[in-house]
Amino acid sequence: MAQPDRPSTARMIDHWLGGRHHHPVDVAAAAAFEAAYGPCAAIFRSLRDFLGRAVRAVAAEGVDGFLVFGAGVPTCGNVHEVAPDATVLYTDVDPDTVRLGQRLLAGSDRAGYGYGDAADLGTVDPAQLHRFVPGWGRRPVGVVFLGLAAFLDDDTLARTLDELYAAAAPGSWLAIDFDSEELAGHPEALAMMGPEFRMRAPEEFAPLLGRWRPSHDGIVPVARWRPVGEPAPVPDAFYGALASRSAD
Ligand SMILES: C[S@@+](CC[C@H](N)C(=O)[O-])C[C@H]1O[C@@H](n2cnc3c(N)ncnc32)[C@H](O)[C@@H]1O
Repeated sequence: MAQPDRPSTARMIDHWLGGRHHHPVDVAAAAAFEAAYGPCAAIFRSLRDFLGRAVRAVAAEGVDGFLVFGAGVPTCGNVHEVAPDATVLYTDVDPDTVRLGQRLLAGSDRAGYGYGDAADLGTVDPAQLHRFVPGWGRRPVGVVFLGLAAFLDDDTLARTLDELYAAAAPGSWLAIDFDSEELAGHPEALAMMGPEFRMRAPEEFAPLLGRWRPSHDGIVPVARWRPVGEPAPVPDAFYGALASRSAD
């Protein structure tokens, strides 16, 4: 593949997770960000570990189909790797990330990758949706919505989650996170996130879930969501929850 001339967030995270699918331009951007805010690698590792624990919890409920938004690179403990009996459709809006994901999953009959704007379910290819999330709308599924809320304003996020609730079958699950106000104390790093970046307090985020009901674990720093052993000692940059769609 030709060297990209711009970094991508998905590949920067791949670098922080110790993956193999990034380029010098991504490493340089990651280093610049780390100069302003150091603990990125540990924080993204703890977010990916939260994904693993939440997805395994959903699979343990008997769910075997997952729809992933803002998926990034489908490696390093991503959904199909932690739920090996499930089928998974990964989606993202970034064309380079979609192409990379399609290349990495080309040989898989269990996991696919396509374009999808999280704020518009209609952009997901119905053929891919029905192939990789069979029974969508009729059988319970897992929806994975991580690393995305910060890029959606409150109205868009609330509308999107409500539309997903309406589209998913009763008994479905939503794994979601949001950015806390951690970066407010690191203005240089915050400036690098751009003007659209949104930080939220848990009490601001909770109403945006609408009809989705958080599990008894609540909305907590991701490292403290059902930790296995001691929670990873990372700043509380991401909060997360696993929420369910009840029967109508
Ligand atoms: C911070 S990364 C998170 C990647 C991955 N979910 C993770 O947790 O490591 C955000 C990803 O969301 C994608 N993205 C941003 N806005 C989006 C949208 N409206 N719909 C779908 N994906 C979006 C970006 O292209 C990027 O790959």
